Amino acid sequence: MLSDMLLVSAPGKVILHGEHAVVHGKVALAVALNLRTFLRLQPLSNGKVSLNLPNIGIKRHWDVTRLHSLDLSFLEKGDATVPTPEQVEKLTEVADVPADCAVTERLAVLAFLYLYLSVFRKQRALPSLDIVVWSELPTGAGLGSSAAYSVCLAAALLTACEQIPNPLKDGDGISRWAEEDLELINKWAFQGERIIHGNPSGVDNAVSTWGGVLRYQQGQSVSLKRPPSLKILLTNTKVPRSTKALVAGVRSRLLKFPEIVNPLLTSIDAIALECERVLGEMEAEPTPEQYLVLEELIDMNQHHLNALGVGHATLDRLCQVTRSHGLYSKLTGAGGGGCGITLLKPDVQRQVVEATKQALTGCGFDCWETSIGSPGVSMHLASLLDAPIRQALDIL
Ligand code: MEV
Repeated sequence: MLSDMLLVSAPGKVILHGEHAVVHGKVALAVALNLRTFLRLQPLSNGKVSLNLPNIGIKRHWDVTRLHSLDLSFLEKGDATVPTPEQVEKLTEVADVPADCAVTERLAVLAFLYLYLSVFRKQRALPSLDIVVWSELPTGAGLGSSAAYSVCLAAALLTACEQIPNPLKDGDGISRWAEEDLELINKWAFQGERIIHGNPSGVDNAVSTWGGVLRYQQGQSVSLKRPPSLKILLTNTKVPRSTKALVAGVRSRLLKFPEIVNPLLTSIDAIALECERVLGEMEAEPTPEQYLVLEELIDMNQHHLNALGVGHATLDRLCQVTRSHGLYSKLTGAGGGGCGITLLKPDVQRQVVEATKQALTGCGFDCWETSIGSPGVSMHLASLLDAPIRQALDIL
């Protein structure tokens, strides 16, 4: 067990194409955002393991001796798709969360306990730790906040118990793990995501682990070698929604109308592949024609997602507003509210971007300009983190 403080970060994501279809085995193209989640892990000797999530007001601790005395053999039961509902139920007893605790808070606590207990169970003793996780990402907006949380937890816990090495060498400000360590981080992060979302595809944790631009299909991720640096407007409609419920809605529409919904999923798959092909060609010198293709793909996919039943009046509004300024948008993530992305072509005029942002803000949305393709999970040196992040993580 390491004795040093660990500082880990992982990015959120946007899905360019393939949300929902990816749950049914199709391709998703996902990119890491330059909005990140940060985690500080501090070994303690007070006999407690504590979790502090300032964004959602969670501060809880457990007695390590009590956790030790419990029968945790249920963690080993189940098949490849663990955690099972029975395991989650047992975990809820262990976590001892108050009955009135909101779902998001309860699931965040359960995902933490699952990873902490599972990762350290094979060791002689459960360690006493203080963990703070703080995020630049809004929760429940489709930007992969839960995946970034699970990836940070998996990376920090696996490093603390020395299942993977600390990649930070003397003098480094920021460092990344080797490929086989990233595989292990991703595997455990997926388990955390399963606690939170039930049966996710795994694309969110994969892009948060590897960063950059990823093609993801059925558990396999391939990083795009030299993707163009795309600029987007990211808009949060601030309409809350549940990924689990939206995924279930698409599944029931697929079961009810397989002849209608299957072709939609196949078409979304083709859109993702075409987008990947165009991005590959844009490596050299992006042309205006290639941007036109990207816009058309965005437009077609947005209509398909509406047909799958994951649209929302606010997302329609977002698309109309950006269209009236000559820009194309689609929802990103689970839909039903949450966030949308708008492609910003390199030649778009500054006043057009400003006018669009103003119009979107006027609709009550939060809107920010960002680039995509940030690095995946990373280890940081405390002294080189920006002051606001140090403050949020309570680093003196
Ligand atoms: C969520 O970011 C994307 C969905 O496709 C769900 C998933 O892939 O697990 C809606």
